Amino acid sequence: MKTMISNIDINDIDLKELKKHAKLISEGKTVIFPTETVYGLGANALDENAVKKIYEAKGRPSDNPLIVHIYNKKEVYNLAKDISEKAEVVMEKFWPGPITIILNKKSIVPKTTSGGLNTVAIRMPSHKIAREIIKQAGVPIAAPSANISGRPSPTKAKHVQEEMNGRVDGIVLGGDSNFGLESTVLDLTGNTPMILRPGSITKEDLEDVLGEVVIDPSLSKKEDNKKAKAPGMKYTHYAPDADVYIVSGTADDVIIKINNLIQDNIKKGLKTGVMCLDENKDKYNGEVVTLGNTLEEVASKLFDVLREMDKRNVDIVYSEEFESTGLGQAIMNRLLKSAGYKIIKA
Ligand code: TXA
Ligand code: MG
Repeated sequence: MKTMISNIDINDIDLKELKKHAKLISEGKTVIFPTETVYGLGANALDENAVKKIYEAKGRPSDNPLIVHIYNKKEVYNLAKDISEKAEVVMEKFWPGPITIILNKKSIVPKTTSGGLNTVAIRMPSHKIAREIIKQAGVPIAAPSANISGRPSPTKAKHVQEEMNGRVDGIVLGGDSNFGLESTVLDLTGNTPMILRPGSITKEDLEDVLGEVVIDPSLSKKEDNKKAKAPGMKYTHYAPDADVYIVSGTADDVIIKINNLIQDNIKKGLKTGVMCLDENKDKYNGEVVTLGNTLEEVASKLFDVLREMDKRNVDIVYSEEFESTGLGQAIMNRLLKSAGYKIIKA
């Protein structure tokens, strides 16, 4: 398939160029565009045939529902029903932004979009290019992350170019994502709001305005993963070609353990990659790729670093562990998935 590719400067949006892509969407075609979390692969959420093209382009299982992206809050009332007071609070407080809410769907949303469920995931992104595309297309846009199913989500223009050229009708390149991890997914269909996928809007942020919020308990253990309430959380995800392990323990123990493992790997003829905080980068003797120094940096670099490991052709990757609170919760969720929950105790 021939893909129309445009580079758009977020600070000086070429509306004429962007409108060409919005037109593709309104014609039932697929377009990749940047959002503040990760790049999304979009099509008209209300057009079943268009939505099928998304699943095809990604090789995504058809029971994994899509997030519907909207331009303004009014649209929620066309797509969803039984909208609670708590849902109103979340929309008011965090939209536009990196949080998706699950609500009971109205019949206008095709089952293809909702993966056969009676609920719909909705998000109002804040990214200027994303917002302009949705506005110009004049329809809500279903958009999963713009990666081939199972691969790390794309956070940079080059990830999209390398992986998706020829698989979609249009690609809008607009620089790097701001957050680098996908949106928080919050189920608001029950009495107590439940986080189905942690993101940069944290449990603590939500509790400040909602009171009690729980995290889907099946996210923390591999054995429970099949029970995950967000279908997408059941699948292997974020995995580079190399085998990833998280090494857990005190900072000093982790460094000693990883260096010992690297020595063993060298004897076996295996090349080792290490993902670590910047402050530790000179302490390891493998292929070191740093994740930055703050949790914000780690979140924004994580998927790029996982892809970088493939480029370096390493066989095994060891990652330092991060604390599972605040933004660390989302980071550890993605790391655990990319490692297939394999943890080595230092
Ligand atoms: O930041 C993001 O959310 C990005 C950008 C493009 O907006 N999108 C994204 O979409 O990450 P995707 O499809 O890769 O992840 C959506 C997640 C999946 O785990 C899916 O199973 C879950 O949300 N989900 C969608 N609709 C759902 C529903 N009705 N009930 C439960 N989980 C749902
Ligand atoms: Mg995804």
